[in-house]
Amino acid sequence: MENLKKNLVLIGFMGCGKTTLGRKLAARLSYEFIDTDKMIETEEGMAISDIFALKGEPYFRTLEKKAVIKLSGKKQCVIATGGGIIKKESNVNLLSKNGIIIYLKATPEHIYRNIGNDKNRPLLQGGDKMTLIRTLLEERIPAYEKYAEISVDVTGGTVNQITDRIVNALEGKI
Ligand code: S3P
Repeated sequence: MENLKKNLVLIGFMGCGKTTLGRKLAARLSYEFIDTDKMIETEEGMAISDIFALKGEPYFRTLEKKAVIKLSGKKQCVIATGGGIIKKESNVNLLSKNGIIIYLKATPEHIYRNIGNDKNRPLLQGGDKMTLIRTLLEERIPAYEKYAEISVDVTGGTVNQITDRIVNALEGKI
């Protein structure tokens, strides 16, 4: 019973489908859906890529932290986080106080298929995209795995099928 109404916090690399799957999961469970990147863009009135270009990554990370603090008081929300949320352990600690951390696990090929042409991912600009994905993913995987209460493979299947997979993995926890 202690998990009742906990938030469901989606973590994972850029392009693994946190937003798409999060929306679907929230609709399925009648939870509110919140996307930390969207919150930040709305509050700053600027796209993520512009925040990075004009104000820099440390400034973005401060905004991300502020968003996490705001969200830690919420209940019964599905929260799609930015792929770098795990860079600050305190972010995950706050989110996990009232939330179940779900890692959406994707291969580099899957990620590339989803965001290979995307211009709003500043950390993946200015080099061979597949190499950038592989390098950063490898660096981040230990943190995603360490913080995950549940891991769900998102490579293969439709959005509905993967959402089923997440709901099944949550059985008994919500
Ligand atoms: C980032 C991921 C992005 C966004 C920013 C930084 C990261 O979010 O927060 O570009 O460090 O991995 P998505 O995971 O939604 O693409």
